[in-house]
Amino acid sequence: MTKLWGGRFTKTAEEWVDAFGASIGFDQALVMEDIQGSIAHVTMLGKCGILTSEETEQIKAGLETLKEKAKAGELEFSVQNEDIHLNLEKFLIDEIGPVGGKLHTGRSRNDQVATDMHLYLRNETKNIMEALRNVQQALLNQASNHVETLIPGYTHLQRAQPVSFAHHLMAYFWMLERDFGRFEDSLKRVNVSPLGAGALAGTTFPIDRAYSAELLGFDSIYENSLDAVSDRDFIVEFLSAASVTMMHLSRLCEELILWSSQEFQFIEMDDAFATGSSIMPQKKNPDMAELIRGKTGRVYGGLFSLLTTLKGLPLAYNKDMQEDKEGMFDAVHTVKGSLKIFAGMIDTMDVRTEVMEKAVHNDFSNATELADYLAAKGLPFRDAHEVVGKLVLTAINKGVFLLDLSYEDFQAAHPLFEQDIYEVLEPKTVVARRNSAGGTGFEQVKIALKKAASILENE
Ligand code: ARG
Repeated sequence: MTKLWGGRFTKTAEEWVDAFGASIGFDQALVMEDIQGSIAHVTMLGKCGILTSEETEQIKAGLETLKEKAKAGELEFSVQNEDIHLNLEKFLIDEIGPVGGKLHTGRSRNDQVATDMHLYLRNETKNIMEALRNVQQALLNQASNHVETLIPGYTHLQRAQPVSFAHHLMAYFWMLERDFGRFEDSLKRVNVSPLGAGALAGTTFPIDRAYSAELLGFDSIYENSLDAVSDRDFIVEFLSAASVTMMHLSRLCEELILWSSQEFQFIEMDDAFATGSSIMPQKKNPDMAELIRGKTGRVYGGLFSLLTTLKGLPLAYNKDMQEDKEGMFDAVHTVKGSLKIFAGMIDTMDVRTEVMEKAVHNDFSNATELADYLAAKGLPFRDAHEVVGKLVLTAINKGVFLLDLSYEDFQAAHPLFEQDIYEVLEPKTVVARRNSAGGTGFEQVKIALKKAASILENE
């Protein structure tokens, strides 16, 4: 079988060599983008008088036919035609005859593949942004139901101070809000047209790059043809934003896994998102959360793989760049899949408020309150800290918690303690009083929920 570029060759490569070089196995995912880019290109060629209107119409009709066939799954791609670009060009020529060979006028596969990937990522970035919004909505819904549900807050995974469960969930809302912003910002650089840069140097044909860019909905064109065909920053940025998102999901997954353990029992995953063990009948495993945590690694891998591929490349296009695709496709699928599962897990999880309630009453996470109490009455905080430390030790020795200590115990620890100390130590009071901006106080949490809701409504 002769190649579309076979003119200067005297023999063909062996099949296994072709197979190694081919990208059709994965870049067929770009079939729609490639056709879309070609339609814009040929429309531009027609408008600029580079092709006759008859040729333009013939090629456009052929491309439309290919689009239908692609949708119907009727295109049989071949490794001999290397990649999606050459496969489609071959199909076009088979479809409409030699005039199909005019499509590639004033264009190279180098600007073509870059165009395809800009189109692909623009679309998928928007899909991911939408999926992020769904997860944020799920977090907001759960949080709205649990403003007054208390959970131990941790540092060093040691009980620190009780917090509103809504406040804890909303921490993730804001992480995802930054992720959304990163994807949104990256679109500025994704939505730029490389089309018309040619192989690397531009073209002798009187093309109109701005016009084909406009047809494709790009905001602008690359200023430099060498940069246009060799830039993969936009994919690095995508993978980087995707990595941060996965890291955030993975952190909450870790918490969901801990919380659904026998040791915490703060939540129970819905059966739809858990699995059993083939040997231990009692088990209910938070598999989906574990899997998202696990899949985070491959997205980081995509980022590092691409950065490494690019670091030593001279301008302009190098075949190494074909390696930009699989990691990108994989990250798109992984992030989209993870976000979808994640929203479902959050929506359906059962929050065991009675266990959380018990937890916040059975620890020393209200100890800071005592120190603040004394400090508010004028004792230097450092001294107050010391007094309370001793009091905690008294309680530990008695095998009780702070609220169980007698008034005499408090008085003995420091005369500034008065009867109201019991009210102050109640976990609800502890949380409610943290009313500083962004704190866990119920007033603050309600303000945050409103803000979050208005962000989602203003979409
Ligand atoms: N399959 C190639 C890639 O994905 C398309 C561009 C090929 N260009 C070339 N000059 N060989 O990078």
